[in-house]
Amino acid sequence: MLAVAVLAAGKGTRMKSDLPKVLQPLAGSTLVERVLASCEHLHPERRLLIVGHQAERVESTLAAHGGLEFVLQQPQNGTGHAVQQLLEPLRGFTGQLLLLNGDVPLLRPETLEHLLEQHRNSGAAVTLLSARLEDPSGYGRVVADANGAVSAIVEHRDCSEEQRRNTLTNAGIYCFDWPKLAAVLPLLASDNDQGELYLTDTVAMLSPAMHLEVADADELIGINDRLQLAQCEAVLQERLRRHWMAEGVSFSDPSSCTLSEGTRFGRDVVVEPQCHFRGDNQIASGCRIGPGSLIENSRLGEAVEVLFSVLRDAEVEQGCVIGPYAQLRAGAHLGAGSRIGNFVEVKNSRLGEGVKANHLSYLGDADLGDGVNVGAGTVTANYDGVRKHRTAIGAGSKTGANSTLVAPIRLGEQVTVAAGSTLTEDVPAGALAFGRARQVVKEGRG
Ligand code: UD1
Ligand code: MG
Repeated sequence: MLAVAVLAAGKGTRMKSDLPKVLQPLAGSTLVERVLASCEHLHPERRLLIVGHQAERVESTLAAHGGLEFVLQQPQNGTGHAVQQLLEPLRGFTGQLLLLNGDVPLLRPETLEHLLEQHRNSGAAVTLLSARLEDPSGYGRVVADANGAVSAIVEHRDCSEEQRRNTLTNAGIYCFDWPKLAAVLPLLASDNDQGELYLTDTVAMLSPAMHLEVADADELIGINDRLQLAQCEAVLQERLRRHWMAEGVSFSDPSSCTLSEGTRFGRDVVVEPQCHFRGDNQIASGCRIGPGSLIENSRLGEAVEVLFSVLRDAEVEQGCVIGPYAQLRAGAHLGAGSRIGNFVEVKNSRLGEGVKANHLSYLGDADLGDGVNVGAGTVTANYDGVRKHRTAIGAGSKTGANSTLVAPIRLGEQVTVAAGSTLTEDVPAGALAFGRARQVVKEGRG
């Protein structure tokens, strides 16, 4: 029987943030969600989350995670005090308790599997993860012998000079035999520099206590401040880029690009410098992205090119060319082979195949048929101050430069709109529409 508990009640004072530390985002998901995800595959019988500081906010963020038991720690008097709050909900539980700090987001699921396996095989009362860090400042130090038996954990601030030279650090990830931990939890005292109850003090009270040293120390980075948050982000980004390079994606300047876990690439995608992918994206094979683009929650078909542009909640079929300096917003759908050029914005609009809108246009709430040519400066005036209205432009139509189409309005197929027109009425197929004052020239009056 396995129970998992995550400590997420602390204030996170060192972050200097209004947001609780465990809700800080890392590559698009919060620290605590990452910690929960790292132990999902273990299928624990119980999943408990200890909340305290801004408990409601933490609970509401995690509301969608089914089967979580929230345990309130009020006030927050240290990690040992936090785990004391489990005595009641885990009364009568006789299995193992996997306990994780809520601020250790880079753990690999396999590492937790090893921890459980070693714990079960050795029959220890507690097994904890440790790592050798080049700079262990701030972390608790693990006092252990050559066989991996732990006699104590000493917090950095309580260490002597000599103890500080010990680089074996405590990760804040433990597997306890719950009845044995439950027996010693009430014995904790707050005789330390912070005057708190330390969970780490239980280790000296339990025997045998063992540690498992993790080879990749990055996994155990605990986030207490913004510097560590940035370090974790860098590690995560490096993992993601390495993964996609191994899958056939080229990055010409990898470290200048950021990815999200929800972004999927086909083969032979080329990502040029300064490109950022957020949320869930599908980028099909042969696309060329960048330099300088942001793509969020979008789907790109094969061989799409995007240059210095922003795409959000957009769908782009194969062979489209976007940019430089274009913006596709929510509900933009581009048919195959379309071209969207500089300073063109498309929102909630469906464009057919081979549409060209190359310069300085706004297409909002519009439906464009195949092969429509949108002249420079064409604007769909979709908003009357109260409601949005749609514009329809039939296949093969052309709008002249600086056309304003006041919606609701429908242009049939093969329509030509004269440059500088403001149209307020529908135009039938095949017609030429003017909507402007005739030019007057008065000689000699210049
Ligand atoms: C802790 C460990 C330290 C270890 C380090 C690893 C203790 C005493 N020290 O130190 O040995 O090297 O993690 O990252 O455990 N929390 C509560 N309630 C509280 C206090 C904290 O739920 O009253 C939660 C926090 O939200 C956080 C976790 O416990 O998720 C760890 O707390 P934190 O203050 O970050 O401990 P560290 O000083 O990092
Ligand atoms: Mg910490």
